Parts: sequence; structure tokens; C-alpha cells
Amino acid sequence: MVKVMVIESENSVAPSAGADAERIRALVAKHCQSQYRLPISATMEAAILPALEQVLRQPERRLVLDAGCGTGASTAAIATQHPDAFVIGVDRSQARLRRAPAMPPNALLVRARLEEFWLLVQRAGIVFDKTFLLYPNPYPKHRQIKRRWYCHPIFPVLLATTCALELRTTEEWYANDFCLAIEQCRWECSCQLLPPTDADVLSTFERKYVARRQQRWKVCAQPR
Ligand SMILES: C[S@@+](CC[C@H](N)C(=O)[O-])C[C@H]1O[C@@H](n2cnc3c(N)ncnc32)[C@H](O)[C@@H]1O
Repeated sequence: MVKVMVIESENSVAPSAGADAERIRALVAKHCQSQYRLPISATMEAAILPALEQVLRQPERRLVLDAGCGTGASTAAIATQHPDAFVIGVDRSQARLRRAPAMPPNALLVRARLEEFWLLVQRAGIVFDKTFLLYPNPYPKHRQIKRRWYCHPIFPVLLATTCALELRTTEEWYANDFCLAIEQCRWECSCQLLPPTDADVLSTFERKYVARRQQRWKVCAQPR
């Protein structure tokens, strides 16, 4: 007879939001009480500051951030849907950004790390009207918990630089944990399962998930 052993390891995938709740609360509390200090390289400043100058030249427009925009398909789609807004898409991957479609005149793509981007946005006093986090890497292993945006030290800065937030993810536990973390920061949020159609598809990853009939969760959040 074959004996099946379940081995708990620090690499195991998060079984549920509840299992991590205390850890998440502790990390969020710690990050909200401290200031995230990250040296910003000259390369990052050179990539980000000209983009922020362009953002600052749009006083009449709603400002939207597509954080981790991948190929920029969602940046272009949001900008086309909202011609009154100025949309900036940020991603660290040159390979993905190279596949970007042509951008409408009210959109801009920047290759940068979001950690440095958000710090410079805060320093410039810019507050986005809305930030999209479309299918961020979920980092499901327990030892990766601090890489998830809601457990990352940048999280309070992310929240301080936007008036509203929309997260989409295929992981229900990620949506639940995100809500837990953001509610601790005095934001309110709602979470819904998106319909399995492609009516509202924004991004490259989302198109792939719809084709595979994967469940998609949408979290909308704003300060209380
Ligand atoms: C799963 S992909 C989703 C891409 C896109 N939002 C979509 O839905 O098609 C996650 C993206 O986040 C980007 N990313 C992850 N961490 C980042 C960071 N610290 N700074 C900038 N981009 C990051 C990756 O390069 C990748 O393109």
C-alpha cells in the first residue's frame, strides 16, 4: 500500500486567506508605522522623472495608473475608454513592453520598478484618481508573502498616491487577503466574481484567463 504524506513546508501554497490573517495584519501594521526607505538609482530616476513631468502637465485630466501593465494592452484600452483621462502604464519588463500596441495620445508607458515609481510619485505630490493592479504576480509561496503588494513595505505609499484602486486576480485568496490588508488601512472595498465572458477584458493576461475559463475576481477599494 502506498502511504501518502502531506508535508507542510514554507514553500507550500497559501491554503486560505484565514491561515495568513495574523501574519498579514502584523505586516500591514508594521509597514504603516514605518517609512519605506529605498535608495533610488540614477537609472530609475532618469526613467521615471520625465514621465512624472508629463503627468504634472495634465492638470485638467483625471490621472490613472496601470501598475504592472505588462504589454500595455490595458493601458491603451483604459486610455481609449476614458479619453478625458491621462493613463500611465508602468512595468519593469522590457520584453513585455516591447510587445505594446500603439498608445493613444492620452497614454504613456514607462519601464520602471513600481517601488521606486511610487516613492517618486509621492515625492512629486502626485495623487492618481485611480490605480489599476491587473493580475499582479500572486507570489503564492509562504516565504514570498512580503512580495505580495499588500504585504510589501511600499503598500502605504501605494495607497497614499491614489484615490481609488481596482485589483483583478484569478486567486480568490489573494482578493480576500488584499481586502483584509486594505481594510486595516481604513479603506473600504468590495469584491466580486467577474462573469466568464470577455466583455470587460482589459489586459493580455486577462484575455488568456478568459479563454481558459479561469475565475477572475475584481476588488474595488477607496478610502473610508
Ligand atoms: C502577471 S503579469 C500581469 C501583466 C498585466 N497587468 C496583464 O494583466 O496582462 C505581472 C506584471 O507585473 C510586472 N511587475 C511585477 N513586479 C513589478 C515591479 N516591482 N515593478 C514593475 N513591474 C512589476 C511584471 O513585469 C509583469 O508584467
